[in-house]
Amino acid sequence: MTSPRPPSPRTTERLLADDAGIARAANLLRAGGLVAFGTETVYGLGADATNDTAVAGVFSAKGRPQFNPLISHFPDTDAAFAQVQATALARQLADAFWPGPLTLVLPRAPGSTVSDLAAAGLPTLAIRVPAGPVTRSLLARVGRPVAAPSANPSGKVSPSEADHVLAGLAGRIDAVLDSGPCAVGVESTVVDLSRDVPVLLRPGGVSLERLRAVCGPLAHPDDHVHKLPTAPGQLASHYAPDLPVRLDAHAVHPHEALLAFGDELSGAGLVWNLSPEGSLDEAAARLFAGLRFLDSEGRRRGLTAIAAQPIPRHGLGLAIRDRLRRAATPASTR
Ligand code: TXA
Ligand code: MG
Repeated sequence: MTSPRPPSPRTTERLLADDAGIARAANLLRAGGLVAFGTETVYGLGADATNDTAVAGVFSAKGRPQFNPLISHFPDTDAAFAQVQATALARQLADAFWPGPLTLVLPRAPGSTVSDLAAAGLPTLAIRVPAGPVTRSLLARVGRPVAAPSANPSGKVSPSEADHVLAGLAGRIDAVLDSGPCAVGVESTVVDLSRDVPVLLRPGGVSLERLRAVCGPLAHPDDHVHKLPTAPGQLASHYAPDLPVRLDAHAVHPHEALLAFGDELSGAGLVWNLSPEGSLDEAAARLFAGLRFLDSEGRRRGLTAIAAQPIPRHGLGLAIRDRLRRAATPASTR
């Protein structure tokens, strides 16, 4: 028989974010296991980035349609920059935003130990130093780069809590290290520094305004996100609930679930308000949990769509709008 085998079923441990749990998670990762862990953005599905077999396991557990390049995670700037050819601008950005929700794409260092599979054979590498004591302590204990895409089945809503990870991947991964809900709630901002000008590949947890304050001019995401061949992870359809999503709704029907922001539209069959006060930071942190809730509860009640109220185009609003646009793109256009 030559047909590909699905990943063998395994028991998924739920680990507490105490010393013993962190040590167990680190040992599993060092042994080639798949361990989901919380970061300040979303939960990542981690594997030893220097181990091709472990990295291949990430793709099969997620059911990824292709080998997209993965972000390598590090406990500190020195460990991260050992894998790439850092530039002066990379150092300035690292000083300003690490640890934190920023990913830098740079040419790989000749001595980089990251597997070609994790880097998808590209001459560049995406690196990041995530925030949070549990995350950094885990990465320090692993002592190797940890590759980690968001810990959800490919194309589905990203996880911002350990329960979300288990809902999608239980039985397919070795463990989830539960560090509670993620503070930022949307993925890191990805900036490509390997070109003549810095290019924003993905809006995320560091806003464009804050980036520009350090970088100066930066190519705008809407000009580039769908065009750049070096961001193969940017599928148009992504983060998709099962119910169709309708954007920029100014009215809502009783057969729709409403993803509200600020003052709620009336008349919806079900409501999740991202932030009644209109805070974009709060809205980002509540986005993926809200999409999950409206999708599952909405379907249970027989609703037919999710209507999303307009989100302003500043601060984390850009990242939220990007994720909602992908959630609204039918999977058939992938
Ligand atoms: O917040 C985050 O970034 C989360 C947490 C777990 O760290 N991770 C995450 O990973 O969102 P993932 O695999 O879902 O998204 C990685 C993004 C993709 O858009 C991918 O194309 C891009 O980073 N990327 C990775 N390596 C790249 C490279 N060498 N060149 C260009 N883009 C790259
Ligand atoms: Mg993802």
